[in-house]
Amino acid sequence: MNSKAEKIKQLYDICCTDYDRHMVKTGHYTAQEKILELISDQIAEPILDLACGTGFLIKLLSKKFTNIVGNDFSAEMVKIAKDNTNVSITTDNAETLESYDDKKFKTIICCNLFFYLQNRNEAINRWAKLLDQDGKIIFIEEYPFVEPSSQEMDKHTTELMDIIDPLSPQDIQKVMTQNGFELIKQVKTEIDEQHSLYGLMFSLK
Ligand SMILES: C[S@@+](CC[C@H](N)C(=O)[O-])C[C@H]1O[C@@H](n2cnc3c(N)ncnc32)[C@H](O)[C@@H]1O
Repeated sequence: MNSKAEKIKQLYDICCTDYDRHMVKTGHYTAQEKILELISDQIAEPILDLACGTGFLIKLLSKKFTNIVGNDFSAEMVKIAKDNTNVSITTDNAETLESYDDKKFKTIICCNLFFYLQNRNEAINRWAKLLDQDGKIIFIEEYPFVEPSSQEMDKHTTELMDIIDPLSPQDIQKVMTQNGFELIKQVKTEIDEQHSLYGLMFSLK
């Protein structure tokens, strides 16, 4: 693993509890729940949640689906996710997903992950290989990206801003199109007055 990925992993190992509180308090999880409602017609199992964090999305998805797996390279995040859910969770680097061999998914979810990746094209190509013929990749990402501010996250903000490389929904679409995907649905909900959460669904052309 390169040094930037190692830094990201260490940051989330340290800040996982603060992150979880921040997401609850600032309405970020509520926005994720709204996005999930708006795209639920596009979701089919088996489902892979690429950076499951504390397991918030998996918990919601488990109300309707049973064939779900999560992944997150932060061991401390995974501990929280395992307390919150009943699904199997791997700790691969999401860019390479070494332990997944040639498994197939109908839905791959990338929620608040893409801005952290160093090898975006490689990651998309790996995800494409894991996708069923009629499968979908769903991005759930914020725009504009706002420096997190809360009692919980303030002590981690400088480090976080140093490792994150935000993209607009249009930029995400461009990268996906260049890698053989087409946008099939886009939804949006407000997180607060400053920024919104977007849901972008792609399938192979
Ligand atoms: C901002 S959190 C998002 C967590 C969750 N999806 C959510 O929205 O609450 C980013 C998560 O991605 C994980 N992560 C970042 N880069 C990763 C990578 N290359 N492979 C696996 N996990 C990664 C971190 O450990 C962290 O838990």
